[in-house]
Amino acid sequence: MAKEETLDCIIREAIPDDAKEVIDLLNRTATQTGFMTQGEEGLGITVEEEAEELDKIYHSDNNTILLAVVDGQVIGIASIHASSKPKIRHIGDIGIVIDKEYWGMGLGRLMMEDLIEWAQESEVIKRLQLQVQHRNTRARALYESLGFELEAIMKYGVKDAGEYLDVCQMSRLVL
Ligand SMILES: CC(C)(COP(=O)(O)OP(=O)(O)OC[C@H]1O[C@@H](n2cnc3c(N)ncnc32)[C@H](O)[C@@H]1OP(=O)(O)O)[C@@H](O)C(=O)NCCC(=O)NCCS
Repeated sequence: MAKEETLDCIIREAIPDDAKEVIDLLNRTATQTGFMTQGEEGLGITVEEEAEELDKIYHSDNNTILLAVVDGQVIGIASIHASSKPKIRHIGDIGIVIDKEYWGMGLGRLMMEDLIEWAQESEVIKRLQLQVQHRNTRARALYESLGFELEAIMKYGVKDAGEYLDVCQMSRLVL
């Protein structure tokens, strides 16, 4: 649970009814830092489309979306996305974002630990991987402390505010 005593936060799987809250959080956090691949352009998806996607993910054995909810508001999202192709369906791509107002309370770690546990219990996912900007020291420290290893640095991996930046490819196995 969060280190701040007064924070009452629930972490749970997303359901179709969360679609609007999910879109709102992703749009809100897109411009809080330069660390997200989404920017001011917005998600470009309707609430109905997102609800359909959340329903598919909820029933999938190699995809999940976890939400951190405070007072009924979604303030964090952590996800594993994987292909349905038999040869690569064991590879889960991780994404995570917490509303900046709630950083540094231990929620990022809790959500990542829950994702790893979900992957272990899935018995499908064997490899978790993610991409993180080299300058994103907070996120890199979190991933390293959870056993993720640097595999490659992608030069010019992203362009933010006119600048081309290095992106780290990291992974860990969940055997
Ligand atoms: C990365 C992110 C999810 C971390 O969430 P958080 O709730 O702040 O994380 P936590 O409070 O659990 O802290 C996790 C770790 O971050 C690291 N950390 C915290 N504050 C830090 C700081 N000021 N500088 C460097 N590392 C720091 C520590 O390793 C900490 O681990 P600890 O448990 O040993 O203290 C959050 O900062 C975020 O949403 N960032 C924007 C989106 C993003 O960058 N997503 C990742 C893209 S790959």
